[in-house]
Amino acid sequence: MPKRDFSLVNVLVVGSGGREHALSWKLSQSSKVDTVFTAPGNGGTQNNIPINVEDLDALADFAQKNNCFTIVGPEAPLAMGIVDKFQKQNLKIFGPSKQAAQLESSKIWAKNFMKRNNIPTARFEIFDDPQKAKEHLDSIDYDVVVKADGLAAGKGVIVCSNKEEAISAIETILTKKTFGDAGNKIIIEERIDGIEASFIALSDGKIAIPMASSQDHKRIFDDDKGPNTGGMGAYSPTPIIDESLAKKIQDKVIDKTIQSMKSEGIEFRGFLYAGIMLKDGEPYVLEYNVRMGDPECQPITMRMDFDLFDYLAASSEGQLQSLPQIKWKNQYAVCIVLASKGYPEKYPKDEPISGISNSEDSYVFHAGTIKKDQVILSNGGRVLGVTALGDTLEQAIQNAYKQSDKISWANKYCRRDIGKKGLSYL
Ligand code: AMP
Ligand code: GLY
Repeated sequence: MPKRDFSLVNVLVVGSGGREHALSWKLSQSSKVDTVFTAPGNGGTQNNIPINVEDLDALADFAQKNNCFTIVGPEAPLAMGIVDKFQKQNLKIFGPSKQAAQLESSKIWAKNFMKRNNIPTARFEIFDDPQKAKEHLDSIDYDVVVKADGLAAGKGVIVCSNKEEAISAIETILTKKTFGDAGNKIIIEERIDGIEASFIALSDGKIAIPMASSQDHKRIFDDDKGPNTGGMGAYSPTPIIDESLAKKIQDKVIDKTIQSMKSEGIEFRGFLYAGIMLKDGEPYVLEYNVRMGDPECQPITMRMDFDLFDYLAASSEGQLQSLPQIKWKNQYAVCIVLASKGYPEKYPKDEPISGISNSEDSYVFHAGTIKKDQVILSNGGRVLGVTALGDTLEQAIQNAYKQSDKISWANKYCRRDIGKKGLSYL
């Protein structure tokens, strides 16, 4: 029997989506890591621990007993203060503190933060009274986006094309309380029409290292039609962000955010995700997330040519400066999300899936799946993220669709145009 190396650490990845499968896949390749556990995980992750992401006591207990370094995927436990709790118990954990997570957990906090620190974002006003909110619409001459203040599972944002839609959005959030307490207050902000891209960096509170650029596809149907979803596919790098634009976003958005947080007494340690709208070559921050994007994480992870564990550990210790420069595979990666028909509304579950296979340059990350008696069943809206590399964007797209088309289940659905926007820029 091989001798156990006690210098290795165990890792606990918190979450159950495609992002968490990609993170645990990459972390299990680290020479520093022994076992990767995932809580609660999905049909594709190994060593699943049946603990809910919001059960902070049980997670801490597991991490303690199994000597784990914990890595948090989704926003909910971060907003609840999982990092503060673990640190109080002397448990090692990667992610931002509760205070730092306000960048995502309160859109109003984030907008005010951007305003007082001159970080470019759309102009806005805040309301808790529906009547005053409606009166505000009479005083402006631009289209608006109405946003619930709190976390609403990515659904609390209503993009409006006219005043009637804006009035109905105000009623949905403030009067009907469709998003519950997350909609006690709203932001009415100027609608900016441009090109969207995601810019994600890794910070230790002092410096921020940019991850590879990427672009998500948020709408359910081809050509960006239909309702918003969590994301139907992503690719990396995106030619929309060239070197000079990347530098501009790094300076004006990422570094400015990290330094402004620091000067307000908050060290941001974790992944900082800026949802950017580009208009006339200038970036505007639409939103912050305090975590990796899902599905952006899948193609970005596939291109990593470094030991992710080293960088996440250094981020949590404020030591990123001491690590060598990050390296990326000089290839494109594309992730096609295979969803259940009906998502983002109602969809069937428990349908057996066949045809999942991995190759040297492609990997199927699971999201809404569950394994029962060695059979993989659909168990969510976004089911799989088929991710493939290619020397060109076109090849990566072809490769990803080739692997996707081998997979089948009764109500499988995917967009057929993932990456197309990128091609039009090349
Ligand atoms: P958010 O969760 O704030 O990123 O909003 C979700 C989506 O709504 C974004 O990905 C954009 O497509 C859209 N959106 C948000 N804010 C604006 C804005 N000010 N102008 C135009 N579109 C927006
Ligand atoms: N793909 C968008 C997000 O993770 O919020």
